[in-house]
Amino acid sequence: MKKPWSGRFTEKTADIVEKYTESISFDKRLWRYDIEGSIAHAKMLAKQGIIPKKDADKIVKGLKEIYKEIESGRFKFREELEDIHMNIESALIKKIGEIGGRLHTARSRNDQVALDIRLYLRAEAREIISLLKGLETVLADMAEKHLGIVMPGYTHLQRAQPVLLSHHLMAYAHMFDRDRARFEDALKRINIMPLGSCALAGTTLPTDRHYVAELLEFDAVSENSMDSVSDRDFSLEFLSCSSILMMHTSRMAEELILWSSEEFSFIELSDAFTTGSSIMPQKKNPDVAELMRGKTGRVYGNLMSLLTTMKGLPLSYNRDMQEDKEPVFDTVDTVKLTLNALFQMLPKIKFNERRLKDTADAAFSTATDIAEYLARKGIPFRTAHEITGKIVRYCIDNNKRLSDLSITEYKSFSDVIGNDIYKFIGTLESVNAKKSYGGTSPEMVKEQIKKFRKRLK
Ligand code: ARG
Repeated sequence: MKKPWSGRFTEKTADIVEKYTESISFDKRLWRYDIEGSIAHAKMLAKQGIIPKKDADKIVKGLKEIYKEIESGRFKFREELEDIHMNIESALIKKIGEIGGRLHTARSRNDQVALDIRLYLRAEAREIISLLKGLETVLADMAEKHLGIVMPGYTHLQRAQPVLLSHHLMAYAHMFDRDRARFEDALKRINIMPLGSCALAGTTLPTDRHYVAELLEFDAVSENSMDSVSDRDFSLEFLSCSSILMMHTSRMAEELILWSSEEFSFIELSDAFTTGSSIMPQKKNPDVAELMRGKTGRVYGNLMSLLTTMKGLPLSYNRDMQEDKEPVFDTVDTVKLTLNALFQMLPKIKFNERRLKDTADAAFSTATDIAEYLARKGIPFRTAHEITGKIVRYCIDNNKRLSDLSITEYKSFSDVIGNDIYKFIGTLESVNAKKSYGGTSPEMVKEQIKKFRKRLK
């Protein structure tokens, strides 16, 4: 098959070069966007009188046919035609003859590929945004449904203070909400139209780039033709947003793994979202959550991969940049699968309410409440902390819980302690009293969920 750029060459391309330089095996995924972009470009060329209107019509018709052929799987992609751009252009010329060669007027593959990735990432970012919205809704629903459940809150993975399960769930909802905002923000920079920058310098032909932007619904036209063909920071931004998102899903997955262990026994994952062992018949493993944690590695790797590819590249386009696609595609697939799996797995989780409450009760998790009680009675917090520490020590030495101590025992630590102390050492009372803004009291959490839902709309 004749290469579109073969004019100045006398020797045939070596086989290894075709293997080494091809990108069609993976960039064929961009076909939809490549055709969409070409149709807009052809219309612009005709409108500007750069090519005859009747030729543009034939080009558009031909491209639409190729669209259908690819969609139905009838199209044959050829490695010797390198990439998706040349595959489609060659097919067009084969279909409608030499006039198909007018399509590549006033553009190059450099701006064409930039356009294709931007169109692709725009669509995928929008889809991820809607998946995140779904996930946030699921979390808010769960938080609302489980408002009555108290659990131990942790720092250093040591029981710290009792909290509402809903509060814990909403913490993740907020993380995913910021992830969504990050993708929305990245979209502003993705949605810029680079076509018409040509190879790097622009063109002598009277193009109308704004018209192309309008047809393809871009927010703006890129301002510098060299930047337009060299820039991949919009992809890097997408990969960064994805990495942060995966960091969040990974943390959540880790908690689900811990919580479903015999040792924690906080939750039971549904059978549909766990797998068995090939040797140990009793096992029910949280593999989906583990893979959520594990797949984070490849997404971080993809970010590092593209950062490294771009580092030190002189302006403007370099073929190195062809290496941008696989990390992006792999990230899109991984993120979407992960969000889908989490979205389906979460609502099926059963919480062991009794166990969560007992675990919250067991430790001295309301010790901070005693210290704050003393502070309210006028004792400087540092001193109150010290006194409470001694109370805890006394309990440990005498194998007692905070609620077991008599008022005489309490008073021996400080005479400001009165009978009302017993109102502050229960787990439920502790949670109910955390009424500070953003705190874990049911009142505040209900308020939080309400505000969150309003923002989601
Ligand atoms: N397949 C190429 C890429 O993805 C398209 C641009 C090729 N441009 C060039 N001058 N060789 O980067």
